[in-house]
Amino acid sequence: MTTADPLLNAAGLHKSYGPTPALDGADFSVRPGEVVAVMGPSGSGKSTLLHCLAGIIRPDSGTVHYRERELSAMSDAERSALRRSEFGFIFQFGQLVPELTCTENVALPLRLTGMGRREAEKRATGWLERLEVDDVRHHRPGQVSGGQGQRVAVARALVTGPRVVFADEPTGALDSLNGERVMQLLTDAAHDTGAAVVLVTHEARVAAYSDREIVVRDGRVRDMAGAL
Ligand SMILES: Nc1ncnc2c1ncn2[C@@H]1O[C@H](COP(=O)(O)OP(=O)(O)OP(=O)(O)O)[C@@H](O)[C@H]1O
Ligand SMILES: [Mg+2]
Repeated sequence: MTTADPLLNAAGLHKSYGPTPALDGADFSVRPGEVVAVMGPSGSGKSTLLHCLAGIIRPDSGTVHYRERELSAMSDAERSALRRSEFGFIFQFGQLVPELTCTENVALPLRLTGMGRREAEKRATGWLERLEVDDVRHHRPGQVSGGQGQRVAVARALVTGPRVVFADEPTGALDSLNGERVMQLLTDAAHDTGAAVVLVTHEARVAAYSDREIVVRDGRVRDMAGAL
């Protein structure tokens, strides 16, 4: 595989919830290290696309390949292992574990791979420093601001060295200044580590941090050039 090959490639995805099609023949691909913004109206299928790409939900038809492997051909256990080792996730409201400190939250994905506590927390601290939130490392998520919480969530998504980071409106709950700072830190870290980012956002200012923008409309993907 060369770097020009897609890392993740989806073709002809269909997914319906009852009579409503959420995806209606969506195609998508992202290359190693590429940051792609996924835009489009509410209800157009952005989150559903993200969840299919990440192997969280199974499409009714169509294929998703991660490198040479087709996600639907894998067992649930294989898909979970792939998600843990290759993918990172950031959601709109952080979704940190409330009972754990920020350091413990960031260390958690490493602990789940079997890493010892001391080493995992050392790496977690390094990421919290990099995201400029090491001052709250002993705080629980309920004791930090929204912007700090999202930086912790970015650290948690990147700590395992994922090849793809999936971010579903990661700045949706932040003011514009905090949102831009989180995007700057996320895209800098992704470029440094070579991770690709699939970023769902409503905001043009956030999408401006991407290398490429696509638009989802009625469950189908159009690139920005086609939409204009
Ligand atoms: N679990 C579900 N059960 C039933 N319908 C669903 C479910 N998830 C999504 N849908 C429907 O599928 C369509 C696409 O939803 P999706 O969440 O992918 O949209 P979205 O583009 O992410 O929207 P938003 O910008 O509001 O987050 C919508 O019509 C939605 O109501
Ligand atoms: Mg959504």
